[in-house]
Amino acid sequence: MNLVFLGPPGAGKGTMASRLAEEMGIPHISTGDMFRAAMAKGTELGLKAKAIMEAGDLVPDELTIAMVRERLQESDAQNGYILDGFPRTIPQAEALHGFATIDRAVRFEVAEESLVKRLSGRRVHKPSGRIYHVEFSPPKEPGKDDVTGEPLIQRDDDKEEAIRNRLKVYHEQTAPLVSYYEAKGILTTIDASPEPDTVYESLKKALA
Ligand code: AP5
Repeated sequence: MNLVFLGPPGAGKGTMASRLAEEMGIPHISTGDMFRAAMAKGTELGLKAKAIMEAGDLVPDELTIAMVRERLQESDAQNGYILDGFPRTIPQAEALHGFATIDRAVRFEVAEESLVKRLSGRRVHKPSGRIYHVEFSPPKEPGKDDVTGEPLIQRDDDKEEAIRNRLKVYHEQTAPLVSYYEAKGILTTIDASPEPDTVYESLKKALA
């Protein structure tokens, strides 16, 4: 199954995508993670993306589309995948439509006031991408990854000013994708406001 996860920053797309991808044995393809990996390696793409991401703006469509098109050609993506954070603009969705068939777009709906709380308390294990929250999904030992014991970090774009801008960008450029996928008849909306296990059950029910 080829899935697109849609929703505002902090809605829980990454948390649910990584869990579902593991259960289904398909790759979780997060464009945000791909840009962060490129930044960590200091590639040309990473250098171009750095300032844009830190401000909470969108990386230009042509760079993002080319990166995803290449990723979907890899062997592990031939039997299904979850796209998390892509597409994020109508031109990206139209380009995707030209080189992939999407079976379902899942929209994660959460009240705006919860999003800021989720993002400001998020902590991540950079090497693996494992996601925690200081209150809602705390690690066993504060500040440390459960598997490796390595330190957790706060993302540069999880600072208040960048969060506000990401929400604004979401409403202006990404929210129109809800109507785009609705018109194609493949949109499913789930309530992503309860605690993570409940959201995961709703997600599985919606996809069954
Ligand atoms: P990206 O990394 O995609 O960030 P995002 O879309 O802003 O989404 P987030 O990762 O912030 O949130 P999420 O919904 O995955 O929530 P999570 O599961 O972590 O993009 C970053 C940047 O990269 C963009 O701003 C842009 O610059 C660039 N970029 C990426 N894709 C692009 C594209 N296609 N085009 C152009 N530019 C692009 O959860 C958040 C927190 O809440 C965690 O702490 C988690 O533990 C907690 N949580 C999760 N679920 C629950 C729950 N049910 N209850 C309570 N807490 C929960």
